Amino acid sequence: MSKAAKTIRKIAGKEPIAAAIVLGSGLSAIGDLLENRLAIPYSELRGFPGGGVSGHGRDLLIGTLGGKRVAVLTGREHYYEHGNAAAMRPALETMADLGAQTLLLTNSAGSVDERFRPGDLMLISDHINYAGMNPLIGEATDRRFVNMVGCYAPDLRAKAQGLAERLDIRLGEGVYLWYSGPSFETVAEIQMAIRLGANAVGMSTAPEVILGRFLGMKVWACSSITNMGAGLSAENISHEHTKTMAVQGADKLKRLIPALVEEL
Ligand code: HPA
Repeated sequence: MSKAAKTIRKIAGKEPIAAAIVLGSGLSAIGDLLENRLAIPYSELRGFPGGGVSGHGRDLLIGTLGGKRVAVLTGREHYYEHGNAAAMRPALETMADLGAQTLLLTNSAGSVDERFRPGDLMLISDHINYAGMNPLIGEATDRRFVNMVGCYAPDLRAKAQGLAERLDIRLGEGVYLWYSGPSFETVAEIQMAIRLGANAVGMSTAPEVILGRFLGMKVWACSSITNMGAGLSAENISHEHTKTMAVQGADKLKRLIPALVEEL
């Protein structure tokens, strides 16, 4: 068990968690939904995200959501912060140590598909690892050869679709293409993403999906669309704009995620 897992158990108790939830840019308000909430600063947890990106939280929350005990990572660490694709490995290993069998990931993303507009959610059905980096590089065991077929759990996607319909949330599915960032894409790169079969682009999530599968967790991921990709609309793309627009997606995720956790 990781040192961080021991620290968390000491502070929050030994009861296992059902799921770990990672919140993307501008989405940290989702953590407000937790009942009996306990916040532990990342700085007290060995290996947890350091540095920080504005719009992301810096606490681990433990509490109850949808009747289940969950852990919420209010911010993540990105490959673009230092070039380490495995930056989230210690935190995700800690989640597995605490018993999490499900990993729910959220992010803000740019749409490259007219079907997904700013303010919409896109349920991720698959990804293209265009950053070309892999968090399992350096892993010395045969466990590194992770099978990625069905890595976005089909049963959780189906559950989310049923719930979205009931909650009157439009929830299309699409392929997320991981560009490393931190610069936004060029117009030509967005055109390439379209030709490669992507529906949205972003700077995170894919390495966490690989790590989650590596750790034997069931993975689900949803993008909050904050903008159209570079060159696809007249709006100016910026991190400020991402954080402002993420609020609309956050409101929908605040209804969808508790319902999904309840059904785990
Ligand atoms: N590109 C990459 N990442 C993003 C975008 C984008 O347009 N919007 C929000 N995250």
